[in-house]
Amino acid sequence: MTDLSLRDELLAIVGEGFITFTPHHNPDDLHDESLHQRMVEPFAVVRPATTQQVVSIVQAATRHDVAITPRGSGTGLSGAATPIRGGIVVSFERMNQVLRLDVADHVVVVQPGVTLRELNASLDGTGLQYPIHPGELSGSLGGNVNTNAGGMRAVRHGVTRQHVLGLELVLADASVVRTGGPVVKVSSGYDLTQLIVGSEGTLALVTEVTLKLSPKMAHTTTTLVPFGSLEEVTRVVPKLITSGLQPAMLEYLDTVTLTALTRSTSLELGVDAAVAAKATAYLIVILETRTAAQLDLDLVDLAALLEESGALDTYVLDERSAVRLIEARERLFWVTKELGANDIVDIVVPRSTVPRFLEEVQRIAARHEAFIGGCGHVGDGNVHLSVFLPDDEQRERLLRELFVFGMELGGQISGEHGIGLDKQAHYLALTDPAIVALQQSIKRAFDPRGTFNPYRISDERPAPVE
Ligand code: LAC
Ligand code: ZN
Repeated sequence: MTDLSLRDELLAIVGEGFITFTPHHNPDDLHDESLHQRMVEPFAVVRPATTQQVVSIVQAATRHDVAITPRGSGTGLSGAATPIRGGIVVSFERMNQVLRLDVADHVVVVQPGVTLRELNASLDGTGLQYPIHPGELSGSLGGNVNTNAGGMRAVRHGVTRQHVLGLELVLADASVVRTGGPVVKVSSGYDLTQLIVGSEGTLALVTEVTLKLSPKMAHTTTTLVPFGSLEEVTRVVPKLITSGLQPAMLEYLDTVTLTALTRSTSLELGVDAAVAAKATAYLIVILETRTAAQLDLDLVDLAALLEESGALDTYVLDERSAVRLIEARERLFWVTKELGANDIVDIVVPRSTVPRFLEEVQRIAARHEAFIGGCGHVGDGNVHLSVFLPDDEQRERLLRELFVFGMELGGQISGEHGIGLDKQAHYLALTDPAIVALQQSIKRAFDPRGTFNPYRISDERPAPVE
């Protein structure tokens, strides 16, 4: 009976074309891109068009004591958007308008369903950019906010968090509030905007996002730099940061990963065969400047710094190769998945400790007879490890060792993909219980009935998903 009337209420809110009920869901709505996809059937998937409809959905969910999982484009990598059996998935894809572009204030206001691709297109010709580049342009801003997406440009521009100035939220009591605003600094009470960023849909539903924009640099160059050892690559990173060259991208790839990416995209980078034979790892450096003259000066300094740091060579790529290399790099997740990786992790450690961390990664891999390939946002100390070890229990033990060592170095379990369902057991086991308790009280303050995306982050109850 309850389900029947909840069905009627939801139908009345969004209309027949914008809702599916179990068991008639589109399978695409039932998972994100975690390598541990769990096809969980929620009671309903609803596609509201307005904040008011979201409010009504929260009211209906509360009346019927049903959980809500918000969903952006489903490009998350940790299971945060996995539905809850019997719950409601609120998909924001119809709330996809760029509401206001304010060039003078360097601010854009978007609905959560706007994708990065759509946002970028809306900024064409303004001289401004939204510099966050997680690599998946179909990702939505609502999803990016909820996971605090990072990506390849964080070394210069920071992550999503640094660009979210304000939010419109539907709270668990169905009220609508605004946090922050189109201003670049705030010192007015607890920063609720930042509390929501990275909260994985557990505290409130984001219905509008005010984002900070940055000037677009006119001149750019991409350099591919082979090194004889991974250690040398990672040792050069702190020096590059100190240099003040302010790279817009500082990525590393081990040879296995670069070879997999270039093969899968038939990309020929023109690396000399003798150099390629000696190289075991590569650095990608993108410089961006306001003037061509500055770019020339910076390139000279970059080349000198790389040479004294043991680079085997420095390849300044032509524009087409540069674009294709970054496109290939964006495909990392898909290529890793095609190769059969069992996990992809995104541990972050202090950037100077990356060499020690990666050395230990290989020791841990050897102990577990696993293969671990790597690449990542080395400028941020944020590594991506593709773990090949099919046995689930053994892999979880290996991951635990990686997380423990990363945290000993001062790092965190996730630098950008979030905790979701995939890493929650590790997160709960390795986080100070006092911090878990504090997070639980924040959750209770926002959502006393536990309506929003339960079983995530600090919620210690097992998720009823399998
Ligand atoms: C990337 C994703 C996997 O950096 O975080 O490609
Ligand atoms: Zn990444």
